[in-house]
Amino acid sequence: MISISSAKAGAAGLLLAVVLGAGAPAQAEDDGRTHIERQTWTFSGLLGKFDQAQLQRGFKVYSEVCSRCHGVKRLAFRNLVQPGGPSFSEAGVKSLAADKYRVDAEPNEQGKVLKRPAVLTDNIPPPFKNEQEARSVQPGGALPPDLSLIARARGVESETPFYLVPLTMLRDILSAYQEAGVDYLYAYLTGYKEPPPGAKVPEAMNYNAAFPAPHFTGMPNPFAGGDGLVTYTDGTPATVDNYARDVASFLAWAADPRLEERKRLGIVVIGYLLITAILFYFAKRRIWSKAH
Ligand code: HEC
Repeated sequence: MISISSAKAGAAGLLLAVVLGAGAPAQAEDDGRTHIERQTWTFSGLLGKFDQAQLQRGFKVYSEVCSRCHGVKRLAFRNLVQPGGPSFSEAGVKSLAADKYRVDAEPNEQGKVLKRPAVLTDNIPPPFKNEQEARSVQPGGALPPDLSLIARARGVESETPFYLVPLTMLRDILSAYQEAGVDYLYAYLTGYKEPPPGAKVPEAMNYNAAFPAPHFTGMPNPFAGGDGLVTYTDGTPATVDNYARDVASFLAWAADPRLEERKRLGIVVIGYLLITAILFYFAKRRIWSKAH
């Protein structure tokens, strides 16, 4: 009897170890699958929140490095001022919009569309007028995607054997895991490595270990300039690792600006349900305490 139950416990423990170990680094050899490491983010979990200073740094990295090729057209300047985001000062964002960006004005009396400085309610204009122009400046003609929703548009391939997938799904639901896209962004931005011997990187392509197999991406390493490329003023070390984390967090916020509000509401709802459950419990005891 004892031996059977301990064997059962052993099997369950093994299963648990397999499930929990599913996130462990894969072997070094390339089997065509891409392993994406999970990162720690301030906004993960049930109580997670964006770190305002990190979003500000992330926006700086986006504007100084990525905005040359990528737009964030779903973001408006006013979003940068709103609470829950980078929350820059209104005056600062107003002058950024007016000094750096030109958008189409309303047609004048002759029907001509002239340009005017951007204002808070404008969306952030993308760097290129259209897809063709965007492609034409890339060496290999690859299209730099708009980054507004990219943190949600990318995920992580499951490395779990199919029969364990329901268990890993359960684990992700219980831990409120929804950062797969951001984990991928971080891995992609820091994924430029020496190609393994034998890999022939095509013309105008770059080897990136995180990009889906065969790991060739049209984007050159945006942080090829190395540490110090972007100046940080809040004391955070200006390293490529931090640039990648900060800009990935910024893009996570851009794709889900209401995350904090949503999580706060979730907690309120859970609290409400708990209180109701307790009230019902006492009500039930009272009702059933007397013989009718
Ligand atoms: C010199 C232009 C250039 C710069 C600068 C640049 N990118 Fe890109 N990016 C590209 C191109 C081109 C692609 C399309 C690559 C492909 O499809 O192979 C791309 C693709 C991407 C993708 C999508 C990858 C995927 O899985 O499809 C992400 C995310 C991305 N860039 C983020 C960034 C971030 C963040 C920065 C700033 C740190 C940045 N890029 C800077 C040109 C650029």
